[in-house]
Amino acid sequence: MTTPNALGENPRIFAATRLNYTQIEEILDSLPWNAVCMPQTAAYARKEAEPMANETITIVDNRTNQTYTLPIYRGTIRAMDLRQIKTGPDDFGLMTYDPAYMNTAACHSAVTYLDGERGILRYRGYPIEQLAEHCTFLEVAYLLLYGELPNARELECWSEEIMAHSLTHENVKKFMEGFNYDAHPMGILISTVAALATFHPESRNVHDPKIRRKQIVRLIGKMPTLAAYAYRHRLGLPYVAPDPDLGYTKNYMNMLWRRLEPKYVANPVLAHALDVLFILHADHEQNCSTSTMRAVGSSNADPYSTTAAAIAALSGPLHGGANEEVLRMLAEIGTKDRIPDFIQQVKTGHRKLMGFGHRVYKNYDPRARIIKRVAEEVFEVTGRNPKIDTAIELERIALSDDYFIGRKLYPNVDFYSGIIYEAMGFTPDQFTVLFGIPRTVGWLAQWQEMMEDPERKIARPRQVYTGEDKRDIVPIELRTPKTPLVLA
Ligand code: CMC
Repeated sequence: MTTPNALGENPRIFAATRLNYTQIEEILDSLPWNAVCMPQTAAYARKEAEPMANETITIVDNRTNQTYTLPIYRGTIRAMDLRQIKTGPDDFGLMTYDPAYMNTAACHSAVTYLDGERGILRYRGYPIEQLAEHCTFLEVAYLLLYGELPNARELECWSEEIMAHSLTHENVKKFMEGFNYDAHPMGILISTVAALATFHPESRNVHDPKIRRKQIVRLIGKMPTLAAYAYRHRLGLPYVAPDPDLGYTKNYMNMLWRRLEPKYVANPVLAHALDVLFILHADHEQNCSTSTMRAVGSSNADPYSTTAAAIAALSGPLHGGANEEVLRMLAEIGTKDRIPDFIQQVKTGHRKLMGFGHRVYKNYDPRARIIKRVAEEVFEVTGRNPKIDTAIELERIALSDDYFIGRKLYPNVDFYSGIIYEAMGFTPDQFTVLFGIPRTVGWLAQWQEMMEDPERKIARPRQVYTGEDKRDIVPIELRTPKTPLVLA
């Protein structure tokens, strides 16, 4: 790639110069990538809000016998339209109660389409199956962020730009040194991504589209570097500098696994598998971590702090942390003959079948189907991970059991991914990091969309107060203990 920069040089020479980090960043800023590849007008295609369809709902308030007619918009009513429903002037007005957002749309989004009943997942309209088969991860990243697939020239520029940002400030490494060797890599990732805000203080200016864009490419570029450093820190191995020539996924493998060889050569089958896994994990509309991204971002926090919050949400075992839990569960089950006993424990409510079930999918997760196929390709190289046979048998038994059928519980993305990661040599505590690298793209696409949404406001739900009514303070000497004191 020979995109000339403002100095008429190839950006790859930066690696060989004695420029400091700030100087490199300044030169990257002056590069014409933005103009060449990313017309701002085409960016972040948020579908224009369609005019209200002529659909309404009529509600009768049985407390007052009053009737209200509310507009329906794309299958939703606006919660604020309920506020007019009151019993009298002192009544606050009707609210909805939806503690886990089971039936609440919190935004309009044009990024990802998900039909959980039919097991359909599309990024910007493209079926996930086609993207996994025909595209690279960086192509998909571009698609998610800009709304369209790049042409060859745009992809070349985009890749070059992202790879140029794989470099981190040397002090980031020092920061990581502070962690114990047995620190969980997700803890390291959360903290280090948050710390990036201090290296790039201009990121606080979230209203400037150019500054936002800069942080987006930085985050996508740096995430594999931070993840690889966290991996090597745990092993006590020296960090490997990024090699932009290798491209996104192979460079990540280089930073993970290079030892003393002068140039790392990634196994193409494993690199392709990892790239497909990255595509499958890149976005999943308003899941827990993405909603966190939007909620934290809605306060105008900088994108590093916001992404760190999303990573924290991802780390939970009910979300991205499930892939780690699946492997522990399969190790615990051990052999196939112990599956019926395990299933019984699940059905009696003593255990959860990790990697099964989904808030939105009430059908087979299309990503799990693709991962199952990729697993077989990986095993051709690594040898078969025996846990796959336990997992397949577990799936077979579960999918023929009324408990799982009745509740529409199917394998989700996390059920098979960890088996591939383990075959590649990752330890379970790294699995969620492997989820977080590509999901960063989805978080940022959704964050960007939110920042440009004219309806954006700070996220601030309401509550149903169930505490004490008004009461007056009793002087401390007159207070009687209500609960026994427990001294450790
Ligand atoms: N094993 C056993 N029973 C389950 C499971 C499971 N994995 N998932 C749901 N159920 C049962 C649940 O007990 C409930 O039964 P009942 O109606 O008798 O009370 C019913 O199915 C409905 O479940 P729910 O908990 O109301 O569903 P939810 O939408 O609130 O939770 C979930 C979704 C993903 C948190 C849940 O299915 C779960 O905990 N799964 C295991 C963890 C997991 O694999 N998470 C990864 C999700 S996909 C990737 C990602 O987003 O990160």
